[in-house]
Amino acid sequence: MDMNVDAIRVEVIKPEIGAVLHVDRAALCEPAVAARIMELLELHDALIFPRLKLTDEEQVAFTGALGALVNFTHTAPGGSKANDVYEITLDKKKNPEPEYVLGTFFWHMDGTTINQPVPKASVLSCRKTSPKGGQTQFCNTYAAYEALPEDEKKALEGLRVMHSVVAAVREVAAPEDLEPFKRGAAHEQPLVWTRKNGRKSLMIGYSADYIVGWSKAEGRALLARLQEWAAQPRFCYSHEWQEGDLAIWDNGGALHRVIPYPADSGRTMHRTSIAGLEATS
Ligand SMILES: [Fe+2]
Repeated sequence: MDMNVDAIRVEVIKPEIGAVLHVDRAALCEPAVAARIMELLELHDALIFPRLKLTDEEQVAFTGALGALVNFTHTAPGGSKANDVYEITLDKKKNPEPEYVLGTFFWHMDGTTINQPVPKASVLSCRKTSPKGGQTQFCNTYAAYEALPEDEKKALEGLRVMHSVVAAVREVAAPEDLEPFKRGAAHEQPLVWTRKNGRKSLMIGYSADYIVGWSKAEGRALLARLQEWAAQPRFCYSHEWQEGDLAIWDNGGALHRVIPYPADSGRTMHRTSIAGLEATS
């Protein structure tokens, strides 16, 4: 095995989620190092690389070394086909339609509303922190599922949940502004996703609108309970960013959200995504 794999130093953050990785940045794209990082992602769900300070080009190269780069936000406000790096900002000059970013104040998975495998992992680097708020939080939906009582696991079997853009922005858009989002993407997912390796995750978060075939009240109450369960502290890690930090999380096995920050804070994050290879349904 490549010597550089031994150069990865791992500090576990919490038993159920999170590890800090110290890696020689020159070795990041080496196949053996990238493969080890993906193994560590499977083990720890969310990985933090402190002060890595990658440029966009380096972030794209690193993302491509970890898997297949995917651009699923080219139609989102501020997204473009020409640029695989999505800039997350509330700066009105750069992002005139803030709903998409404001929706990230609530627990979600990326890419659940479109008919393609959800991104395997999201890669986020911090370009500018906010003096107030702006922490990104992650919670492990594999661990949350695993810890459910057996009778609850059984009760969730076979349930389907509709994920939609309109559900994801309902909390942040004025009612009169919701209309265009109603024509936005929507996609049905299994509530419990069983991966090829047998691991199971909960496909929940703010894009989860309703349980197919259930009354709205019962379905949304179940979704809310599962979200509260998954977000309990034992499954969660909250990252206080420093400029140059980079985080990678298992997007299909974690929810994430950001603690609200002022629009004029200048907080700027650059995101790339690794394509998912396993369909959820
Ligand atoms: Fe996100």
